[in-house]
Amino acid sequence: MPKIAVSGKGGVGKTSFASLLAYVLTEQGNRVYAIDADPNATLAQALGFPPELAAQVTPIIEMDDLIEERTGARPGESGRMFKLNPRVDDIPERFSVEYRNIRLLQMGTVRGAGAGCICPENAMLKMLVTHLLLREKEAVILDMVAGMEHMGRATAGAVDAMFMVVEPGARSIQTAKDITRLARDLGIGKLWAVGNKVRNERDEAFIRSSLTDLPVVGMLPYTERAIEADMSGQALYDLAPEMVARVREIVARVLP
Ligand SMILES: Nc1ncnc2c1ncn2[C@@H]1O[C@H](COP(=O)(O)OP(=O)(O)OP(=O)(O)O)[C@@H](O)[C@H]1O
Ligand SMILES: [Mg+2]
Repeated sequence: MPKIAVSGKGGVGKTSFASLLAYVLTEQGNRVYAIDADPNATLAQALGFPPELAAQVTPIIEMDDLIEERTGARPGESGRMFKLNPRVDDIPERFSVEYRNIRLLQMGTVRGAGAGCICPENAMLKMLVTHLLLREKEAVILDMVAGMEHMGRATAGAVDAMFMVVEPGARSIQTAKDITRLARDLGIGKLWAVGNKVRNERDEAFIRSSLTDLPVVGMLPYTERAIEADMSGQALYDLAPEMVARVREIVARVLP
């Protein structure tokens, strides 16, 4: 099972899709690590984690002492020597919470890191994602920050597949193209697009004709149920079977 990132423009449905993908992968007996890589963390809600459980997650980036212990430098410190391959094998178990076979981790906010920065916290994040690949019958899904910010870049270097979520609109298409270029430069082998909030054939045709350079592996319908799930805090997976069915088809197509 590859490590999968979900990217795209702001608000297109990255978190929604990542949450559905996580549940669909558990249907096949996988244990899923769902990593919320967005500082503005909302994946727990989309997954329908009970709020008191979600509150127990410690964002990895806030563990200054742990990062210092493992890398030899404190977060935010530059110019000091630090280990590029810190030990991270115990982190998934210690700092995540589990619900319905999904282990949730939050990365938190990287402070003061410029583009391309190699700092202790980034080394830790990248190692964490890399390490998670090594286990069997496990899947890793990263819900990325909108666009392609530096932290995304550092972590994206450790994933091997990426879904670009687009909606019917030229702006999300442009963002998907920009991210795709960057992802190709990073050597991410498998890049797919998924249309979301698709209302009719015209929407679908628009997406397909705009993304000629990227395989479009599925379309998720626009549905009021997504909005209801967002308001109620229930798992989108439980409320929107019409979306779940499409995600199952996508998984069967690209992650057999
Ligand atoms: N298929 C859909 N039909 C209707 N509404 C949807 C659909 N998918 C997502 N939404 C709604 O769009 C909004 C944004 O969705 P979501 O949070 O998944 O996007 P995002 O790309 O993760 O956003 P951000 O860039 O802020 O992280 C939410 O209110 C969600 O309920
Ligand atoms: Mg999101």
